[in-house]
Amino acid sequence: MENNIVQHNFDLSENDYVKKHAHQSGVLWLTGLSGSGKSSIANFVAKELFEKYQIMILDGDDVRSGLNKDLSFTDEDRTENLRRVAEVASLFRQKGMIVLCSFISPLNEQRKKVREIVKDKFHLVYINTSLAECEKRDPKGLYEKARAGKIPNFTGIDSPFEEPNHSEIIINTANKSIEDCAKELINYIEKNFKI
Ligand SMILES: Nc1ncnc2c1ncn2[C@@H]1O[C@H](COP(=O)(O)OP(=O)(O)O)[C@@H](O)[C@H]1O
Ligand SMILES: [Mg+2]
Repeated sequence: MENNIVQHNFDLSENDYVKKHAHQSGVLWLTGLSGSGKSSIANFVAKELFEKYQIMILDGDDVRSGLNKDLSFTDEDRTENLRRVAEVASLFRQKGMIVLCSFISPLNEQRKKVREIVKDKFHLVYINTSLAECEKRDPKGLYEKARAGKIPNFTGIDSPFEEPNHSEIIINTANKSIEDCAKELINYIEKNFKI
């Protein structure tokens, strides 16, 4: 069907932004269980790189508090949540930003879809923390509630989490500090986002 949408041809290209920012643009998509450390690591990375890099954080709980508050946690709504975020991340990337996306993104099919939406410069970052460790941390008390049957479709409890079948970088967080884990991602960015 004809939708009468004609995208504007903006004069500034992604490359113009990249030259101005003096670093590559890209999307770093952090996948991992609830409590694995996605938000804590994104927080530290953004703070460390604040002066030298243009960084945007799109975080699960922020997005679900506003933009995507109409969505639930069924597989279908999680997929739609991630699709919208991938579209937003692409827009920021096209304006030369490094976009840190921290979303559980539990299924390989969903990770594949967001990679396809972003197309170029997509980096899957697996924040690898075992369910037992996440449950021990339980920073938001959600595992306790989920075990008590108070949260339906909770990832790792009654909703699946697949090990990523392809990621650009894996960060194992067990027995490490947030700082040390964040530094692994910072090193990756410093190496791969040079121009
Ligand atoms: N090495 C580590 N990396 C990240 N978080 C860690 C680490 N060790 C302990 N933690 C703790 O684990 C919790 C991770 O929570 P959070 O960042 O909110 O996870 P997520 O965003 O993945 O749900 C925090 O309480 C954090 O202090
Ligand atoms: Mg989080």
